[in-house]
Amino acid sequence: MDNANPAPPPKALSARRAGPLKGTAQVPGDKSISQRALILGALAEGETRITGLLESGDVHSTAGALRGLGAALIAEGPGRWRVTGTGVGNWKSPKMELDFGNSGTGSRLVMGAMATTPITAVFTGDASLRSRPMARVVDPLKAFGVTYEGQGPKALMPLTLHGARRAKAATVHVATASAQVKSALLLAALNATGTSRISQSSLTRDHSEKMLTAFGANLTVSPRAEGGEVISIQGPAKLTGCSVEVPRDPSSAAFPLISALIVPGSEIELPAILLNPRRTGLIETLLEMGAKIDITNRRTSGGEEIGDLIVRHSELKGVEVPAARAPSMIDEYPILSVAAAFARGTTAMRGLEELRVKESDRLEAVARGLALNGVKYRIEGDDLVVEGGAVPGGGVVTTHMDHRIAMSFLTMGLAAEKPVTVDDVTMIATSFPEYLDLMKGLGAVFE
Ligand code: S3P
Repeated sequence: MDNANPAPPPKALSARRAGPLKGTAQVPGDKSISQRALILGALAEGETRITGLLESGDVHSTAGALRGLGAALIAEGPGRWRVTGTGVGNWKSPKMELDFGNSGTGSRLVMGAMATTPITAVFTGDASLRSRPMARVVDPLKAFGVTYEGQGPKALMPLTLHGARRAKAATVHVATASAQVKSALLLAALNATGTSRISQSSLTRDHSEKMLTAFGANLTVSPRAEGGEVISIQGPAKLTGCSVEVPRDPSSAAFPLISALIVPGSEIELPAILLNPRRTGLIETLLEMGAKIDITNRRTSGGEEIGDLIVRHSELKGVEVPAARAPSMIDEYPILSVAAAFARGTTAMRGLEELRVKESDRLEAVARGLALNGVKYRIEGDDLVVEGGAVPGGGVVTTHMDHRIAMSFLTMGLAAEKPVTVDDVTMIATSFPEYLDLMKGLGAVFE
């Protein structure tokens, strides 16, 4: 099926060694929090005013879908949005299919948010999103009474979802270590009568829980004896629009950060980065690798911890990255693999099965990219083991419509012996449209 907006033609780009990186990198707003701010704003009664919203392809796709469901979303200036919601349970069936472009988070959270409202919507997206499993979200949502028609056993898009009428609260254990699945269930619970209990064995990102509380939902989080936690949430919930300040995205910051670590002589500053403890697995790992990262001026903004990072070129050493850390750095493994390639010794990254269902099969895409650039690695089950040292470079990497694969291998090119080329940089705009200009401003050379 074709999208309403055809994909732009692929645009290849190479990165090569140049002088040290210097300066201040103002990375854009956090993608997870931006998506949630729009969705909760669209569900709430009254007005939600957002500042620092990430202006990217994924977030704009979600905004378009929410308009189709009946909310009013107005961009008042860069990062400054005003959302007028309908109230929980008042979304209407969209006249057209909802096209989420490349956005897994937007589509899955909206599936949850409409699951307990008796409306029907067709969810679709670009070729990458249409290849990603939606069964992991829509099957657990059956506990609230949804029905759906997707493509094949993985319930691929295009997927038609029929929300439940008069939904009752449900108790669901989320077996996958996915914040998207957990969040979809929490959003479904908002319009289900009674107390829903959503449990998870892993501690995945908790932005939905925090933001739901700020919008007035009655929600409690308790630890489980067997590990993980259970979230109890009351429905039907009344959400009230509020102000949301979106902090800067640590997953985007990871690219200039690791660029500065691997390019000799570099020193950069990354101000006001989100430091939610469930998102800081990469920083923890890099510190263990010997990275010179100073975190100063820790404070809170919009209910989240933030801080300023000063990053200097560092001699990195290989480490073990335990599987238990994966949820707190799930999007950072491609760029960590690049850091590992420049480190002395072996870096073993354990428990990466979730990487296979991202915007691309990231385990496979990273492995191919490493091989093409002369880096030694092995895949052992769901583990990736990288042998660091000199990085010859010179490869042409296929990005498979995956923004993080594109930015990771451009980063490699900044310090490899020969330039590294990626076949297509267009998808970078889904999460970090300013990436190339920001990196050039620090002294990176792309051609
Ligand atoms: C996200 C959760 C993660 C992450 C994605 C954003 C979120 O996905 O990879 O980029 O905002 O909840 P999973 O929930 O599938 O792990």
